[in-house]
Amino acid sequence: MEKLFVKGGTPLKGKVYISGAKNAAVAIIPAALLSDGICRIENIPNIADVTVLLQMLKGLGASVKYVNKSTVEIDPTGVNTHIVPYEMTRKTRASSYFMGAMLGRFKKAKVALPGGCDFCARPLDLHEKGFAALGADVEKDDGMLDLKADRLVGTSIYLDTVSVGATINIMLAACKARGRTIIENAAKEPHIVDLANFLNSMGADIKGAGTDVLKISGVSHLGSTTYSIIPDQIEAGTYMVAAAATGGDVKIKNVIPKHLESISAKLIEAGATVEEGDEFVRVYRKGELRKCNIKTQPHPGFPTDMQPQMVTLLSIANGTSMVTEAVWDSRFKYVNYLDRMGAKIKVDGKVAVIEGVDKLKSAPVKADDLRAGAALIIAGLIADGTTQIENIHLIDRGYEDYVEKFTALGADIERINIPDSNIADSVG
Ligand code: UD1
Repeated sequence: MEKLFVKGGTPLKGKVYISGAKNAAVAIIPAALLSDGICRIENIPNIADVTVLLQMLKGLGASVKYVNKSTVEIDPTGVNTHIVPYEMTRKTRASSYFMGAMLGRFKKAKVALPGGCDFCARPLDLHEKGFAALGADVEKDDGMLDLKADRLVGTSIYLDTVSVGATINIMLAACKARGRTIIENAAKEPHIVDLANFLNSMGADIKGAGTDVLKISGVSHLGSTTYSIIPDQIEAGTYMVAAAATGGDVKIKNVIPKHLESISAKLIEAGATVEEGDEFVRVYRKGELRKCNIKTQPHPGFPTDMQPQMVTLLSIANGTSMVTEAVWDSRFKYVNYLDRMGAKIKVDGKVAVIEGVDKLKSAPVKADDLRAGAALIIAGLIADGTTQIENIHLIDRGYEDYVEKFTALGADIERINIPDSNIADSVG
């Protein structure tokens, strides 16, 4: 079993380059299925979720070739099945995007409901409602979502809850539907805009991405494209929080500062300085950390995927902070591990009350999901002693070269393979 060993106490200093956005890449890869030609995708992050989705495409008959570490060419024309089995979908939730993409391409899709629940129940009812509104019969059969349509016809769909996944899946299915689809109360995340731009670069007609109302006029054909994925908002935010939490000074390069505004605002409130350039932000902190209150919201609000990292920072701030999780029903499981490290956090349903302590102390901890894992790295960086983090394959899902990137910033972080027979001793 591989573990991370993080020795705390060093303020992070230097430069870090942000990779392509995970949440855009995991939508764009299935979206390539809709093309009749070759999709050359640049700035693709080298992370486990991307590897899994590319392997899925290959398994379905697509040709996938890496041109270099961050550029891949996908030729989806060889895919001649609409069935995606559980062995393929169990590794990542994003495999649900094959539903919309397959339905758009074949007018039918039979996709196993994705496995793995990382922090709470993740329903697909809005996705199903969207497919049905476009004219598909929607059934569940043997753990698979079975979608069939004689033809897909554009319509108006109102999403009761702002959902990134449902917005993406409906967009994928609607691209080649007959007529115009309007999605109201659509998600506005940067990766929604990126997916719309990718589809438009193949010949789709999508307007309004980044607003509440998406208008998709169906086209009969989507062709080849070359497209570069946007930088990862959450990876950038994670290094910003790490810089502020450790009292460091880090220039975070290859970012779109506009995507980081809600994170910058909260870091400034908490006592850090954030300077913005064209494609970088510099985050540093000289004074003490101060309490602040945060409520997660869909974009442009504070992202839920940055909540665990910020709670970790606030665990050593002066005063008592309140963090409300308003996107997911529960996303505070990781707090138990911060408590083991000396944090004082009380969770009541969707609210965490964080009483700042002087310092955290190292402890053996476990990443229960991707962002909780990132938060535990930050906890390790600010703790006295060496923190051991288990389950790091979950961090590998979404952070490219994070050990190398943190090391280049001066962190003492190492990935060590512990033979199973030694595990009991090492965490004892
Ligand atoms: C995406 C992100 C995830 C992030 C989340 C919210 C990807 C691959 N993942 O997840 O990292 O935390 O957005 O920003 O981009 N909901 C329903 N019914 C549905 C779908 C969603 O009730 O059919 C609810 C969910 O329970 C949740 C809320 O809507 O409370 C938002 O979920 P959604 O935006 O769909 O999240 P994901 O797309 O799964």
